[in-house]
Amino acid sequence: MSAHASTAESRISVRDIRLRKGQDPLVCLTAYTAPMAGLMDPYCDILLVGDSVGMVVHGLPSTVGVTLDMMILHGQAVMRGSRRALVVVDMPFGSCEGAPEVAFANAVRVLQETGAQAVKIECAPAVIGNIRYLVDRGVPVMGHVGLRPQAVLVEGGFRARGREAEEQNQILAEMRGAVDAGVFALVVEGVAESLATELTAQCPVPTIGIGASAACDGQILVTEDMLGLFESSPRFVRRYGDLRGLVASAVERYAKDVSTRRFPGHGETYFSTRRKAGAPLVDIPAG
Ligand code: KIV
Repeated sequence: MSAHASTAESRISVRDIRLRKGQDPLVCLTAYTAPMAGLMDPYCDILLVGDSVGMVVHGLPSTVGVTLDMMILHGQAVMRGSRRALVVVDMPFGSCEGAPEVAFANAVRVLQETGAQAVKIECAPAVIGNIRYLVDRGVPVMGHVGLRPQAVLVEGGFRARGREAEEQNQILAEMRGAVDAGVFALVVEGVAESLATELTAQCPVPTIGIGASAACDGQILVTEDMLGLFESSPRFVRRYGDLRGLVASAVERYAKDVSTRRFPGHGETYFSTRRKAGAPLVDIPAG
């Protein structure tokens, strides 16, 4: 039995996700670390180890600087922290655009070294052939159309896509290409409701929206956006927490306590007792 076999058996599978087309909405969030994955796991169908980790955790200006090794490290952490959700790991910029054999070797590394059940690939027209190549060889792929963050350099920034008819047709074509290549689900990012409705109606596998209205078969957000860690976040994010305020106020209180010697207190201190003459000192906590 492989090291990952027992966890894979008890997790939500790619097939389970495919069967949710048109059913109850899929609940998905990004995860990058073991403790956060553990907290989210009971509530989520999919935990996505998104390459947004580069911006959210590592402070990069875009996802372009994210490497395969970074994705594998965070994928391993999320797998360790979760046991129920389907874990999908993003293939970073540059890992799937070249020769199909290289894309396959990179995807195999991700699956083998993390134990995750699937990868996600942004569906630029140039990678559709590679997606087919991977799926044919047993790599489950989730697609990503609409606003594709890895295209930030050619697009000149992040902007909602598909407002004009020409771009709408282009995104519908990207969806068809991804479906023909065999994706089991499709992230749809930053598109107007009318296009999301059309995509969801035409797409035979579940669409998972981010900034793509309620018309999709499921929703995903970047967890730290949703928890309110950042000063500003995109308009489509609903904040379910104020992590920023919570952290700032906790750290402010800690700093004040340290500065005024109110931390550590008696109950947070170890004291030494000498039991017998010559016996070693034993540290015991107070109280
Ligand atoms: O990298 C990421 O977090 C993503 C989601 C925003 C869908 O691709």
